[in-house]
Amino acid sequence: MIKTLEWTASGIRFIDQTKLPTEEAYVTCSTYEEVADAIRTMVVRGAPAIGVAAAMGIALGVRDAEGDHVAELRREFEQICETIAETRPTAVNLFWAIGRMKDRFEQVSEMPVPQIKQALITEAQRMYLEDIAANEALGRNGAVLLPTTGGVLTHCNAGALATCGYGTALGVIRAAVESGKKLQVYADETRPFLQGSRLTAWELMKDNIPTTLISDNMAGAMMRQGKIAAVVLGADRIAANGDVANKIGTYTVAVLAHEHGIPFYVAAPWSTVDLDTPDGSKIPIEQRSAREVTHIAGKQIAPEGVRVENPAFDITPNKYITAIITERGVVKPPYAESLKQLAHAEAAASA
Ligand code: MRU
Repeated sequence: MIKTLEWTASGIRFIDQTKLPTEEAYVTCSTYEEVADAIRTMVVRGAPAIGVAAAMGIALGVRDAEGDHVAELRREFEQICETIAETRPTAVNLFWAIGRMKDRFEQVSEMPVPQIKQALITEAQRMYLEDIAANEALGRNGAVLLPTTGGVLTHCNAGALATCGYGTALGVIRAAVESGKKLQVYADETRPFLQGSRLTAWELMKDNIPTTLISDNMAGAMMRQGKIAAVVLGADRIAANGDVANKIGTYTVAVLAHEHGIPFYVAAPWSTVDLDTPDGSKIPIEQRSAREVTHIAGKQIAPEGVRVENPAFDITPNKYITAIITERGVVKPPYAESLKQLAHAEAAASA
């Protein structure tokens, strides 16, 4: 399995996603500031991977903190959490992970400092394993929804590279293929950062899953020609009413799928569900550098000084979403009720 990120004695080791697919290079971040930078610059990206990278970054910062007393350690811990929180605004997994590390800190704050440090390292490692298990479970839950044969379109990269392993949308595809389904994946290239062509195509080819790369503006034509039987993609945040923030271009794919009567599935772990955000209009959308649009692989492709917009994500209204696939189960509209029910069912089961 691709090791997207890994806790090691010398720091957090990441596969450098800015170098793929031409170079399989790894970087080790030995301070929490370096981890924050790796998230900001998209060495590591994808909502679940960002969340666990954040938790590991916090654990690393706490491990190396100088404070000998809990009060000092708490001050440093809060500073570390603040730095990590400022990296990327849209994926709620980042804030979910920080919240979970804060809860853990409170639970163990009566203990001696070395034990607090160890508890936070253990918590981050637990989150890593939980993420892989969640992806495998949601993969199984979603696999049954895909056709036995045919084309499945995906957008961006919601694969092993966007998670701690196996992937969300690509986890569903992997599980379907493992169960014997004969799928042909259509991967949108996903301008401007090209996660589809650079990352999705790379990781699916590594697994020998039949993959066809298309540029984003080809999706409608492929649907019209009957080549796409289903769409499955990931999410950066799912609001309480089922509106979904995901990579820019997702909304376009959703409207196209609706027009062609093609099922549109969103696959995400429960850590991506944000019941505190009522609807998509309240989700902060990250704006990224104009250079991602004006340049490709360092080469300028637009006139100097042209005005650019570069929102990294868009909102897909819940009415376009056929089902949301999670490790807890598959939910269907109306999402305001079905998501709440799933939250309560799980809370009751773990009580
Ligand atoms: O900007 P990125 O590459 O972090 O955006 C990633 C996406 O939009 C993914 O589709 C999403 O995080 C789901 S990943 C399992």
